[in-house]
Amino acid sequence: VPLDIRILDSDADILAAFPLMSTLRDRIKADTFVAEVRRQQRDGYQLIGGFENGGLVALAGIRPGHTLSRGEHVFVDDLVTEASRRGEGHGTTMLRWVAARARARGVPRVYLDSRSTAKGFYEQVGFTMLTSIPCWIDVDRLLAG
Ligand SMILES: CC(C)(COP(=O)(O)OP(=O)(O)OC[C@H]1O[C@@H](n2cnc3c(N)ncnc32)[C@H](O)[C@@H]1OP(=O)(O)O)[C@@H](O)C(=O)NCCC(=O)NCCS
Repeated sequence: VPLDIRILDSDADILAAFPLMSTLRDRIKADTFVAEVRRQQRDGYQLIGGFENGGLVALAGIRPGHTLSRGEHVFVDDLVTEASRRGEGHGTTMLRWVAARARARGVPRVYLDSRSTAKGFYEQVGFTMLTSIPCWIDVDRLLAG
C-alpha cells in the first residue's frame, strides 16, 4: 500500500501526530505540542504525515533553510516511522516526498542532523555524512566559568 502523504496543518491533525512524535522527542508534552508546532511554523516549519489505511505510520518535520555555507536547502528536523513498521521503506518514502517537493521549488539539497543510531539508514539512502559535531551546553554551566 503506498503511503498517503500530506501536510498536517489543523490543530486536530497536529495533535494526532503527538504520540508518534513523542517516540522521537521525549521532552514534548501533549498539552503544549500544538503551540510548539505553531511557533516553529513562523520559521516555515511543516509537519508531514504518512498514512496507510488512514493510520499515521511515519512523520517528517521540515523547514526551508538558507545559509552562506549551505545555500538554499530544506532541513529535516524530525523523521520517525512507527516502531512496528520500520524497515518497510516508509522513512525512505518520506524523504523522497520531501526531495520531490524541494526539486519542484528549485531547492537542490536536503540537510539534517542524524543521530548515531540512524546513520546507517541515511547512508543507505545516499546521504553524505559531515564531520562537524553538533554540541550544546547549559548557559548556567558556561557562565559558571
Ligand atoms: C530512522 C527511521 C526513520 C528509518 O525509517 P524506516 O521506515 O525504518 O526506513 P526504511 O524502511 O525506508 O529503511 C531503508 C533502509 O535503511 C535500513 N535502516 C532503517 N533504519 C536503519 C538504522 N537505524 N540503521 C541502519 N539501517 C537502517 C532499512 O533496513 C532499509 O534497508 P533495506 O532497504 O536494505 O531493507 C526509523 O528507523 C525510525 O523512526 N527510527 C527511530 C527514530 C530515528 O532515529 N529517527 C531519525 C532521527 S535523526
